[in-house]
Amino acid sequence: MTTDTQTRAFQQGKRRAEELRTQIAYHEHRYFVLDAPEISDAEFDALMQELRAIEAAHPELITPDSPTQRVSGAPVETFGIIEHRVPLLSLANGFNADDLRAWHKRTAGLLEHDQFTMICEPKIDGLAVALVYERGQLTTAATRGDGTRGENITQNVRTIRSIPHRLKNAPERFEVRGEIYMTKSGFEKLNFERGEAGLPLFASPRNSAAGSVRQLDPKVTASRPLDAFLYQLGWIEGGEQPATHWEVLDWLKSLGFRVNHEIRRCDDVDQVIDFCAGWVERRESLDYEIDGIVIKVDSLNYQRRLGAVGREPRWAIAYKFPPTQATTKLLRIEVNVGRTGSLNPFAVLEPVKIAGATVQLATLHNEDDIRRKDIRAGDTVIVQRAGDVIPQVVGPVVSKRTGREKVFKMPKTCPACHTPVVRPEGEAMYYCPNRQCPAQRFRLLEHFVGRGAMDIDGIGESLAYQLMQAGLVQDGADLYRLHERRDDLLKMERLGPKSVDNVLRSIEDSKKRPLAQVIFALGIRHVGGEVAAILANHYGSMDALMNASPEDIDEIPGIGTTIADSVSEFLSLEDNRNVIEKLRAAGVNLREESGGAREGPLSGLTFVITGHLEAFSRDAGERLIKRNGGGVGSSVTKKTTYLVVGAEPGSKLAKAQQLGTEVLDEQQFLALLHARGITPD
Ligand code: IVH
Repeated sequence: MTTDTQTRAFQQGKRRAEELRTQIAYHEHRYFVLDAPEISDAEFDALMQELRAIEAAHPELITPDSPTQRVSGAPVETFGIIEHRVPLLSLANGFNADDLRAWHKRTAGLLEHDQFTMICEPKIDGLAVALVYERGQLTTAATRGDGTRGENITQNVRTIRSIPHRLKNAPERFEVRGEIYMTKSGFEKLNFERGEAGLPLFASPRNSAAGSVRQLDPKVTASRPLDAFLYQLGWIEGGEQPATHWEVLDWLKSLGFRVNHEIRRCDDVDQVIDFCAGWVERRESLDYEIDGIVIKVDSLNYQRRLGAVGREPRWAIAYKFPPTQATTKLLRIEVNVGRTGSLNPFAVLEPVKIAGATVQLATLHNEDDIRRKDIRAGDTVIVQRAGDVIPQVVGPVVSKRTGREKVFKMPKTCPACHTPVVRPEGEAMYYCPNRQCPAQRFRLLEHFVGRGAMDIDGIGESLAYQLMQAGLVQDGADLYRLHERRDDLLKMERLGPKSVDNVLRSIEDSKKRPLAQVIFALGIRHVGGEVAAILANHYGSMDALMNASPEDIDEIPGIGTTIADSVSEFLSLEDNRNVIEKLRAAGVNLREESGGAREGPLSGLTFVITGHLEAFSRDAGERLIKRNGGGVGSSVTKKTTYLVVGAEPGSKLAKAQQLGTEVLDEQQFLALLHARGITPD
């Protein structure tokens, strides 16, 4: 090759590399920041591959902001120190509405003005990061440290795909701040894999994120599911500072940064309090942990006027959620038997108040989980309560051990009927195999009358227990003959003639429950309300379901092999078939209202709807699909025919792109309905 052609090849390579970097940056932004990719993973990989090839041929073309450098920074021995030009402050905390009102009043006093806009933002439970960009390129990333000096974690932060390496139309120099965090699902998965590999587990997504950005080898960081939200401008040179915080957030978005969607502007403190209250429960619905709401005065001019006292700005306050964890003593570990025969270990605790409720019992999942977390009877433990879910034991406080704690062993026989227990291969649970086991029968009856099943008012745990003890019922179907035993019922504790009549009426009313509820009430292992609805919808009658083969069931969209096998096995057992026959004889509804599997213009198609639709609510959309014979799923799988996306779709879109599932926007979906002669009502 002549020098001339070499130069030309080099120049061509250089141009192409630049083009590729711009394209890759664009697609990373679509995928990681907007959650709305435009090309498939394979197409994206091809762009990366081409860029890697050019850089391998001409290593002098590699730039630090090249997307190929996200994972290839060299390990460091220690992190350098970075001085923050403007200190990173912390926040004053408030714990209730009164604290927020007091802050608002104080602020209004200082501003001599009680009408000022505030911005409310989820307080992300991760770790703060300060990113400096110079001439559009990410140059350093630092932890908060002590507020004035942080650690240089640039190499590691470069591995976070939603953080842009280069920006267009950026000011000469500026610093943006935000929070690095790990998603809850990413954390669960990481911990699961660590457990399998015998590695120590991380205590929380926050610890896990902090541990991950402080890895000396960026390759380790790159393998961790980290992400970031940006929420503040540290300082700016060669560019104009926006006038409000809201404008800052908009500007950050326009530069390509990931800004949280849930941020709201509020005009008075009542709106702020409502916003905070709304998130106390709703925070569980997010896939990342938040520990409060940050409230900031919107006007940056006002922020400057308010200033800071010590390390806490007066222009902001953090409303902290009530704690959902507490420590208490684990008195002993007991085991109860579930309706499917599963042996469920649970913790009996010294009563402790968490987020307003007294907790005395907490689930311990299964033996493996207890062993993995090394929870022992007598331990001081951290207990967690979240929303409606059953409290859980997070783990022991090992430093409080006395040596008298006892390691848990699963009993060899069922605690209720003493039959030797079994553990099916591949399952974490032990089971009592005795279908006549009184504990199982009792839990099954409790489930049968419960919410979402036959929904029989007036029969709770205590009456269900008495009915079984008195030998009046063996299973749910026996309830429908109770009217013949009115005298025996009157002998029950706390059951007067009026209550007896009410209970009998409730039982009678329950005969009209939809088929899906009846299927759910049977208590088949792995069949929850959603699966029961799919089965009812597909087969249209209990008889059709009873005649279906496991292969037949397996083919239904939304149903996997484990469920199909479990349903078939359940329906093949004589005992269970007898219960169904007793239900039939009693006149319980065993057919889907409209009768028969629905055929319609959407038969054979399975839809998943995500985001907000304009023409109708998601529920209405799903009903419309079902009415016309289509299937509806809650997550995108290989069996999904179409993903329908409305405004602000979530991660489902990325999943669909990954699987190559056809995606319809609302207009295309309406066009499809129209083409099949369906008019939405
Ligand atoms: S504003 C002075 N906004 O909370 C302003 N901080 O307790 C301080 N944090 O160190 C930053 N989410 O790490 C702000 N939306 C948010 C935040 C947030 C989480 C963290 C941040 C800060 C700590 C203060």
